[in-house]
Amino acid sequence: IHDRRESLYIVTSWAADVFQKSLWETDEGKSIGLSYFRERGYRDDIIKKFELGYSPESWDYLYKQAKAEGHQEEYLVSTGLIIQKEGGKSYDRFRSRVMFPIHNLTGRALGFGGRTLKTDKKVPKYVNSPESEIYHKSAILYGLYFAKKAIVNTDTCYLVEGYADVLSMHQAGVENVVASSGTSLTIEQVKLISRFTKNVTMLYDGDAAGIKASLRGTDMLLKEGLNVRILLFPEGNDPDSYIQKFGPKSFQDYIEQNQQDFISFKTQVLLNEAGNDPVKRAGVIREIVESIALIPDSIKASLFIRDCSVKLDIEERILIAELNKIKLQEA
Ligand code: GTP
Ligand code: MN
Ligand code: MN
Ligand code: MN
Ligand code: MN
Repeated sequence: IHDRRESLYIVTSWAADVFQKSLWETDEGKSIGLSYFRERGYRDDIIKKFELGYSPESWDYLYKQAKAEGHQEEYLVSTGLIIQKEGGKSYDRFRSRVMFPIHNLTGRALGFGGRTLKTDKKVPKYVNSPESEIYHKSAILYGLYFAKKAIVNTDTCYLVEGYADVLSMHQAGVENVVASSGTSLTIEQVKLISRFTKNVTMLYDGDAAGIKASLRGTDMLLKEGLNVRILLFPEGNDPDSYIQKFGPKSFQDYIEQNQQDFISFKTQVLLNEAGNDPVKRAGVIREIVESIALIPDSIKASLFIRDCSVKLDIEERILIAELNKIKLQEA
């Protein structure tokens, strides 16, 4: 009756339901999962809206129910919910984790992120569904289903690193937010955003990984003709922890006051690395011009060149010459 993709969707949304019921209706779910979310500061309406769940400490909690309800093993394995050992038993991928369903654009769960509650560094913090016929990581943005209306209305999209950031921002009343969820931003994800807005602000963790990811993300966004702004959180903080510590009002003020355009951001980060070494400083200028060279709109690019010349105190014609050189190399 159903095609294969539909059958896989039926299994993933069923699993989302099982994890959700486990969170709200079982003793273990309530005392461990629900308490965890509440202690992190999430309100019940947010926990419900995002259909958060809990996978209990068991090798076959989901598997048993799936069998009992007649779900085909093959679909469970293809969606990554169940792991099949060679010649041996099958077991649940997600165990003892709070569950974040990942939704497609129409709001159906097609995969999961599961967060451990252990502080043990040996356990991976997040386990995610593997690639499947319905879940293509590179083409999914966590939270887009819940954000798309707000993205269109505000004509801006905030891009964050994690699930928790998306939840806290919604709770703070900022709903135009999506997460790349650990993967570095892909061209497919950028194209997806650009269907809803051309203006993106990256809100990344203020650690080395966050800086690196935001520089890479910038180039990806520029190449697709999007306008990019960037804001890094103070070292050790992300949007989620900032909101939970300082509240929604301070958060909104913070993001309004600290957004930078990509030239200021890149200049600051790279010059910081280069110090006073003139050779390194020249390298920085070249890198910034390389980013500008990615911008498809040449009028926009020339405005950025002017901006860059002011900020770095270098003659515009030198930057233009450099830009043309890069363009020629690319052609
Ligand atoms: P919390 O500690 O729950 O606040 O998570 P976070 O979102 O702040 O995590 P972090 O900034 O460390 O990482 C950002 C995102 O990267 C997460 O939301 C995950 O999607 C992903 N990520 C983090 N740790 C892991 C991991 O151990 N394995 C995988 N596959 N992804 C991870
Ligand atoms: Mn496909
Ligand atoms: Mn981080
Ligand atoms: Mn984080
Ligand atoms: Mn966090």
